[in-house]
Amino acid sequence: MASVTYEIVQNVATITVDNAPVNALSHAVRQGLSDAFARFENDPDARVAVVVGAGRLFLGGADISEFGKPSQPPILPDVINQIEACSKPVVAGIHGAALGGGLEVALGAHYRIARAGTKLGLPEVKLGLLPGAGGTQRLPRLVGLDPAIDMITSGAPVLADRARDIGLIDRVDTGNDICAAAQAYAQELLQTGAPVRPVSGLGVQQADELLADRRAKLAKTARGEVAALVALDAVDAATKLPFAEGLAEERRLFLYLIDTPQRAGMIHAFFAERAVAKLPEIKGVAPRGFARIGVIGGGTMGAGIATSAVLNNMRVTLVERDKDAADRAHATITRNLGSAMKRGKLDQAGYDRILNDNLRTVVGYGALSDADLVIEAVFEDMAVKKEVFAELDRVLPQGAILATNTSYLDVNEIAGATSRPADVIGLHFFSPAHIMKLLEVVVADKTAPDVTATAFALAKTLGKAAVRAGVCDGFIGNRILSHYRAAADHMVLDGASPYQIDKALTDFGFAMGPYQVSDLAGLDIGYATRQRKLATAHPRDRAPTFADALFHAGRLGQKTGRGYYIYDSDSPKGRSDPELEAIVTQARSDAGITPRRFSDDEIVHRYMAAMVNEGARVVTEGIAQRPSDVDVVFLYGYGFPRWRGGPMKYADMQGLDVILADIQGFAKDDNHFWTPAPLLTQLVAEGRNFDSLNKA
Ligand code: 3HC
Ligand code: NAI
Repeated sequence: MASVTYEIVQNVATITVDNAPVNALSHAVRQGLSDAFARFENDPDARVAVVVGAGRLFLGGADISEFGKPSQPPILPDVINQIEACSKPVVAGIHGAALGGGLEVALGAHYRIARAGTKLGLPEVKLGLLPGAGGTQRLPRLVGLDPAIDMITSGAPVLADRARDIGLIDRVDTGNDICAAAQAYAQELLQTGAPVRPVSGLGVQQADELLADRRAKLAKTARGEVAALVALDAVDAATKLPFAEGLAEERRLFLYLIDTPQRAGMIHAFFAERAVAKLPEIKGVAPRGFARIGVIGGGTMGAGIATSAVLNNMRVTLVERDKDAADRAHATITRNLGSAMKRGKLDQAGYDRILNDNLRTVVGYGALSDADLVIEAVFEDMAVKKEVFAELDRVLPQGAILATNTSYLDVNEIAGATSRPADVIGLHFFSPAHIMKLLEVVVADKTAPDVTATAFALAKTLGKAAVRAGVCDGFIGNRILSHYRAAADHMVLDGASPYQIDKALTDFGFAMGPYQVSDLAGLDIGYATRQRKLATAHPRDRAPTFADALFHAGRLGQKTGRGYYIYDSDSPKGRSDPELEAIVTQARSDAGITPRRFSDDEIVHRYMAAMVNEGARVVTEGIAQRPSDVDVVFLYGYGFPRWRGGPMKYADMQGLDVILADIQGFAKDDNHFWTPAPLLTQLVAEGRNFDSLNKA
């Protein structure tokens, strides 16, 4: 139950917001704050006020669950104006985090003190919004334009020390009772007769050139996302208009963003990310220990996984086949750590500690006798994997967890190579494993709940978003990928160029198109997958013979300098290759296909319909727990534009009837590939959407 309390001791009124878990500024809290500050203003015994948050943080911002509903007064900008207009000083005592509207409340106070380590930020753009309670008007006045634009357009928080350095807060407190520290600060202000100090009264820098420069940079990286650019418009207004008018302009732009589908998509992503961890099977189940990690194989994935673990203070023993391979793995991890230092993720002491104490690269499994959890990342070959797991079964202590990073293979079969299938699980990392946030946790038939709980705990330690997946070929992400990738390949066979497809999809907002992805991953990977699936292929499946031709020509993608694109020093990101057309034309004529034109719109419709259709099947089969889990997989593992919320949210926003009609239309030419998923048909018939299943 939300409450705002008012307590007075020695002329200091302490106003405490208590609204677990994050003190969101819900209607009740806004009303409570407004009442408390009205009382303070009229309380002759109160000469200074302190505002603090109960529990683990100051204020987590506006109540996100209220967005999209009619707003109930008092609205936050008015409450903050009321705080700022108090005739007696107000001190914000900040701990844990002050985010969004929470930081805006602090900006409405006259003085700010924060506990060391506190995060202060305006993350609204990550929700498709802008700071709508004065943040875009007060922050530039308080800290100057440059740092304000950084915070507002990136959404990234700053820590208390940095906040003090830029003038966002007045003091950093190193104790652990922020309320007492803020009260002491208030007493000090009282003794010195410190005045009220409204931020709105400060001047603001005029800098059209700076704004134009930042706008141009943002436009380049926005990939269709509008919030940061609109937020910059609000900052622009701060530099040109008197405070009250700037505030009105900010409100207008905020209300505009509130109504955009981008806001709906990004807030869906926010809740989807939090829903993934809600797993009834591990509720209340204690995880096992995982301080000592083993990694088998130090290639692309093994080295990345090891990097991720050591960067998060775990001890890692990496086992390779021979000394050369072990040395190569060590060199790759050392390089990764060097880049982490450059990005400010690691200091010299941490780097030295990892290389001296926390990382061993060895040959032979003997070194794993005290490992808590071992992640296998050897070649994608069932026979090799089984051999490795049989060996692990022999050497690992009882209670250790045996995990596989396989992309497609049957985790039940791998578990069957051991005498302890309950301890076996899939941990499917994405490349590069120390950077990509997604981790699919593949729960096999016999996996014990505390093993699953450990996988989720490990993901949290590694800073990754873990999504539970069931066993099938490719789990959630790669299974759906195989399907929409086939839809793209069909379009190439029927007349679209891979370049047009990549362009249409990057214009849609994807980080990369499917053929750019192929070049990055290596065309040998796709070829090997197709070969593996040959035995189970249906006679009506359409093979991407042009992709096989590229593979046989040794055009494996970036690693060979040529795949769908050409990569050289002039074009490290790839440029189109005039020879590709001939290869694709040959494949079409071999298959007796007369090519036709595709519009960009049709490309997007076919690609998305395939993705959503297979997503629906994955949900029906229980491979994904809920549609929003599919969304999280695509947002974190496949470069899906966050502002669209994920493929299933996209489908809801388009209307499932529209997606179904598309599939039925495409089926007129190919009713083998384009069969509507029964779940999709059922939801359309019932007038429901995917989101109704998230809430079920
Ligand atoms: N409103 C409503 N619910 C919120 C919330 C918010 N602002 N922030 C978090 N929650 C909910 C979460 O959904 C979660 O609910 P659940 O337990 O039912 O899943 C619960 O609070 C705990 O959240 P986390 O699991 O994220 O807790 P953490 O301790 O890991 O993180 C946090 C805490 C850093 C505050 C993180 O929750 C967070 O980043 N929250 C969002 C902050 C934000 O974006 N604020 C800006 C809001 S927009 C705004 O203020 C507009 C203004 O300018 C007008
Ligand atoms: P890779 O070929 O780069 O590395 C494999 C490494 O395993 C090699 O260094 C090899 O020497 C070593 N190895 C082979 N047998 C071994 C053994 N018996 N003992 C110790 N080491 C052994 O392969 P990559 O790309 O790292 O893939 C590894 C696994 O991760 C595969 O199952 C793959 O499907 C999966 N994966 C790959 C992704 C990618 O993008 N490359 C993404 C996600 C999963």
